[in-house]
Amino acid sequence: MHRILLARPDDYEGWRDAARALALADVAPDAIGWNVEGEAGDLFGDGGNDAVPPPVRPAFSVPKRFLDLAETVLLHRDPERFALLYAMLLRLRDDPDRIDDEADPLRRRLDLLAKEVRRDIHKMRAFVRFREVDGRYVAWFEPVHHIVRANAGFFQRRFANMHWSILTPELSIHWDGAVLSEAPGAARGDGPAGDPVEALWKGYYASIFNPARLKTGAMLKEMPRRYWANMPETALIPELIAGARARETRMVERTMPGGNATNAWAALREEAAHCTRCGLFRCATQTVFGEGPVDADIMIVGEQPGDQEDLAGKPFVGPAGQLLDRAMAEAGLDRSRIYVTNAVKHFKFEPRGKRRIHAKPNAGEITACRWWIDQEKAIIRPSRIVLLGTTAIYSLIGKAQTLTSQRGRDLMLDGIRARATIHPSFLLRMPDKDRTEQAFTMFVEDLRAASR
Ligand code: URA
Repeated sequence: MHRILLARPDDYEGWRDAARALALADVAPDAIGWNVEGEAGDLFGDGGNDAVPPPVRPAFSVPKRFLDLAETVLLHRDPERFALLYAMLLRLRDDPDRIDDEADPLRRRLDLLAKEVRRDIHKMRAFVRFREVDGRYVAWFEPVHHIVRANAGFFQRRFANMHWSILTPELSIHWDGAVLSEAPGAARGDGPAGDPVEALWKGYYASIFNPARLKTGAMLKEMPRRYWANMPETALIPELIAGARARETRMVERTMPGGNATNAWAALREEAAHCTRCGLFRCATQTVFGEGPVDADIMIVGEQPGDQEDLAGKPFVGPAGQLLDRAMAEAGLDRSRIYVTNAVKHFKFEPRGKRRIHAKPNAGEITACRWWIDQEKAIIRPSRIVLLGTTAIYSLIGKAQTLTSQRGRDLMLDGIRARATIHPSFLLRMPDKDRTEQAFTMFVEDLRAASR
């Protein structure tokens, strides 16, 4: 038995180097004992590593996709992960095309492990809640897998201007604005108690909570109970759910006829949650997918989620969304019957102090995201589309056009009638009150015309 001792549970480089040498020496999977320093399986505890026999085979290469998969799977808590990946490596050494064999049970098992890891990474990004302690932002989080180190870069980019610490049972990470450092794991009691930031979260959550859109099952799936203790806003959930049951039942009945579309849409949304088509996923909290009934007649397309949408994971819930709601109400449109989405699904911003300032998506980002809009369009099959601003125009028409050249006339998008109008945040930026009111009236008129 060859004993391989890895330095850490997420030691991908250690696993890769050992696995490569073992595969060249033709060592069988069941002749290797994989251990992690300091873990229960490390029976000898002497820090030793057996020497790998010399190579008996020529050098080989494996598809990059496998290496990406291995890097993710390595973060899983399953103790068998090292051996499973090694077994796959041997198969690919002999036949690299087997990476495409989706029916292979080993490949499926690895895909499943990777999916669970990605999900945990996503949860950490969405559910870490910082609390201010003596000028430093501190969060307590309990991941399922060994994802903390792999996720540190995200928090570093996202909260570049803050000094923060994330404490977890296995590892703590600290950022002082310049250097990211690690420290041993912490205990729950080391985490911060409630403070004013907590009240802010609660108020914010109550304001964006829309009972008409409540799906308790989906909510529990997205926000599993294990995270609730660290999230101040979850104290409100039982109360909010109780008041929403009756409306939820009616909503489910309404959307029943489009059963298949519902499944297709849910699968698409799940896929989009892991989108890496452009670089924007690196700094955004999460994908903000479209929302609304799958049998909606009207689809409204905005630009990209803003700060509040990025935190809430829902489109148009911040100031521009409130203005859009008001305009829709004046135009006689019921938002709960409309599918609302964005041309770009991740928030693009520039950090300025503690604030995140909206930055316009570029042509590459809009084009990369167009795939999602096309899929949404195909599933919802609206009879009318409303384009809010030039980013939506660029995305759906496929080339840059001025708003004045497109506004006020019928456009055809793959056989669907579309209308272009201003983006509501344009109104929020207007300095002159009278002119803003005029522009708002024209906006309402555009929405009314689009819905006719
Ligand atoms: N602006 C948008 O275009 N979309 C949102 O979801 C929010 C603000």
